[in-house]
Amino acid sequence: MTPDDFKRQAAAEALKLVEAGMRLGLGTGSTAAHFVELLGARVKAGLDVLCVPTSEATRAQAASLGIRLTTLDETPELDLTVDGADELDNDLRLIKGGGGALLREKIVAATSDRLVIIADASKRVATLGAFPLAVEIVRFGHIATTNMVRDLANEAGCSGTIGLRAGRDRQPFVTDGGNYILDCAFGAIEDPEMLDEALKMIPGVVENGLFLGLADLAIVAGPGGILTLEANWDAGDDE
Ligand code: A5P
Repeated sequence: MTPDDFKRQAAAEALKLVEAGMRLGLGTGSTAAHFVELLGARVKAGLDVLCVPTSEATRAQAASLGIRLTTLDETPELDLTVDGADELDNDLRLIKGGGGALLREKIVAATSDRLVIIADASKRVATLGAFPLAVEIVRFGHIATTNMVRDLANEAGCSGTIGLRAGRDRQPFVTDGGNYILDCAFGAIEDPEMLDEALKMIPGVVENGLFLGLADLAIVAGPGGILTLEANWDAGDDE
């Protein structure tokens, strides 16, 4: 089994939570893409759900599979969102944004009754931060904003290389919302809540990839089987 097989296993498990008539948030990334693909097969077989994608990439994939789509403005309350993560800890705190969709992902997650995270076992960590934290910033004054991110992160106990994300064309990567992304290689983030608060104080920061208190359930597939972690922080080991 490859990591991709485990991603698909987790996605298939999450699909069991989907019921007819649900309003769903569709995540972004390679794991979420498995979920969208499997959901598409169910839709083709007759399942009726209404979905809000968290990125233009997911919108295109879902549309190509015939999944009924809407916008968050038309459907501002969702029953369930299924999304991937770059890292998750035992308290279901997450780092997201590797795919650059963190802003829409966080807005959609916040408006969903349940956020279910699907991942392969390599995403589980004891301490967040080995994966660089994405921070979405507005383009105007981005150098000044980067300096402020560095300073305030420092005060929150985090330091490391901060780089402006580049796209395939080597130009700055631009998000679906028209913003830039800083990738912050802080290493271990000992106090994610403190860092989150610090980043939120910076005017040019739109959002950051720390998802704290948002995930209700994580479905993690690995060589030992499928593990579910619930937000009450009790690990229900189904292996
Ligand atoms: C997209 O912006 C991210 O938050 C993804 O959910 C995250 O990067 C996980 O992606 P993979 O499923 O591709 O690992």
